[in-house]
Amino acid sequence: MSRYFVGLTGASGHAYARTLIRALVGAGCDVDVSITAAGCKVLRHEQGFDAGVEGEKLGAVLAPWLGEEIAPRVRAFTGSAVEAPPSSGTSLTGGVIICPCSMGTLARASVGFSSNLVERAVDVALKERRKLILVAREAPYSTLHLENMLRLSRMGALILPASPGFYHKPKTLDDLVDHVVGKVLDALGVQHSVGARWKGIPRPEEDRGLDGARQPPLEDDA
Ligand SMILES: Cc1cc2nc3c(=O)[nH]c(=O)nc-3n(C[C@H](O)[C@H](O)[C@H](O)COP(=O)(O)O)c2cc1C
Repeated sequence: MSRYFVGLTGASGHAYARTLIRALVGAGCDVDVSITAAGCKVLRHEQGFDAGVEGEKLGAVLAPWLGEEIAPRVRAFTGSAVEAPPSSGTSLTGGVIICPCSMGTLARASVGFSSNLVERAVDVALKERRKLILVAREAPYSTLHLENMLRLSRMGALILPASPGFYHKPKTLDDLVDHVVGKVLDALGVQHSVGARWKGIPRPEEDRGLDGARQPPLEDDA
């Protein structure tokens, strides 16, 4: 199944969503996307795109936000569109990814409270036992946040926090974003070339030339 649902919420990190959707479409997948009211505010603040109050302009910003070549493979739904296909288990999907996932959406999802299409899509993934990935973002986590994550994890959701590693020696913000998105794509089983794969710590002789001089790092040094 190569249609995925990506839910955008009011957590920080909409750059992750942009890279994720672009990568899914680049891998030949179709994407359904919806956004919460808070998500609209954060998308506007972080990425500079106005999706309206509850996502009514989301469809119009897909091309400028994601790219002209990506937008045709993406269906946009307002947050209140609980009648849309992702609301029903009969509408098949390869997985639901909430990226970024706020603690509010996470809390409501953990108790089956579906007040918008994003939360309903989570509810459907849980009841149908489908792939569900929550790219949670908050710092620090309260005990309540952690308990909600544990409850969802026990129900089968994958909690994949927006916590990029630094062992791949990132040089740009995109490198950090790619590290998290690559893990999401791996978890979905989608083939991709987003982010560097770890190849181990170079041995000292790989770090130095025969004369002992330092070598420049390899292009894909992980
Ligand atoms: C700029 C900005 C950044 C925010 N970042 C986060 C965040 O990283 N994590 C989080 O849980 N809430 C964050 N919030 C707060 C949520 O947007 C807020 O709790 C909202 O009610 C979540 O609603 P939603 O779950 O329906 O999207 C942020 C709010 C703003 C305006």
